[in-house]
Amino acid sequence: MKKLIFLGGLLALLFIAAWLITARPAAALPPAEGGNLVRGAMLYDNWIAVLGVSAPQGNMPLWETQSTSSRSGPDTWRCVTCHGWDYRGKEGAYSSGSNYTGFPGLFKPNRPPGKDEILAALTGKTDSRHDFSAYLDATSLTDLSLFLESGLTDDAQYIDLVSRKVIGGDAARGKQLYETSCASCHGTDGKTLIFRYDGRNASLGTLAVTDPWRFLHKTRFGTPGTEMTIGYDLGWTAQDGRDVLLYAQSLPSGLEINPPAPAMSERPSAETEVGGPPKNTFAGILTGIGAMIIGLGWNLIIFGFLIGFILLLVWLIRSRKAS
Ligand code: HEC
Ligand code: HEC
Repeated sequence: MKKLIFLGGLLALLFIAAWLITARPAAALPPAEGGNLVRGAMLYDNWIAVLGVSAPQGNMPLWETQSTSSRSGPDTWRCVTCHGWDYRGKEGAYSSGSNYTGFPGLFKPNRPPGKDEILAALTGKTDSRHDFSAYLDATSLTDLSLFLESGLTDDAQYIDLVSRKVIGGDAARGKQLYETSCASCHGTDGKTLIFRYDGRNASLGTLAVTDPWRFLHKTRFGTPGTEMTIGYDLGWTAQDGRDVLLYAQSLPSGLEINPPAPAMSERPSAETEVGGPPKNTFAGILTGIGAMIIGLGWNLIIFGFLIGFILLLVWLIRSRKAS
């Protein structure tokens, strides 16, 4: 019994230690005041998924004003489909290719739209076809405008629009950050989690080379419906994100045109690695606990601390009585 109480206390303290290790001070972006910036970023990605609603019928009204993209249905209602993962619309990564629509960018360093302007656009005051007020509640509108006002990162100078390679950057630092915070779930080769990207299966390496902007947005803010350690919570700077991207671009992407013959016969094939357990179990457990705690927030930490404290006290008293 005594041992059990002591173990309980120890476990609670371990939780706090894991939290202290994973939580870093001072987010790189300004603290979210008057709204939830991360939620805003996820709404921008896919508000239909965040809100758990079904998509409006048909295409978004403004969609009919373009004829270059063959997308239709729910995707045409997502902010990112028109304004891009780099927030630059036709001025950025969507200036050509299958994603070109001609819709404008939202990143305007010389004349950043203020909250009122953003809200006016989102409620159809600027253009009635751009009215989301029937679908997005007040909280979501606030979160979105907070994100658009102060959450956008300008990576234009650091990613080559044609080759999609990171310009500059520190791959060694990227590797270190990746292995500390990401590899426990995604695997050291980025292939543990396979997700759908543009109608096909992709690993982190695939995404990093094909859509570095999406990689950065999701690394910083997460992906709707997923509990993931994100750069924003880790206090990563914009450059930290790009360093991780640079490193991820060197991970196996599965996109080699002429795949090299396997050099080491003892190496397991890529297929058997997919879905395997994290390589480094201890780091995996710590990051896992950390991610969980970040997800559950302060309440749990304080609760855990109290329980741990009480259990330790009980143990102390009991062991005194016993002696
Ligand atoms: C079908 C394409 C499309 C979708 C989807 C879309 N927009 Fe737009 N957006 C536009 C167009 C076109 C404009 C230009 C002016 C107008 O028609 O309102 C615009 C303008 C804006 C503006 C005003 C920019 C400025 O400089 O004043 C903001 C802010 C904005 N959109 C945010 C969003 C957000 C947030 C979402 C998702 C909830 C979204 N948009 C979804 C096409 C789209
Ligand atoms: C706790 C586990 C976990 C950790 C830690 C984690 N991720 Fe993820 N990540 C996920 C899951 C789950 C998904 C969703 C996969 C899917 O869509 O099926 C995901 C998705 C992503 C995506 C988006 C894929 C897409 O759909 O475009 C990126 C990019 C990504 N992670 C990068 C990272 C980076 C970089 C880190 C380190 C900061 C990280 N992840 C840490 C679990 C994790």
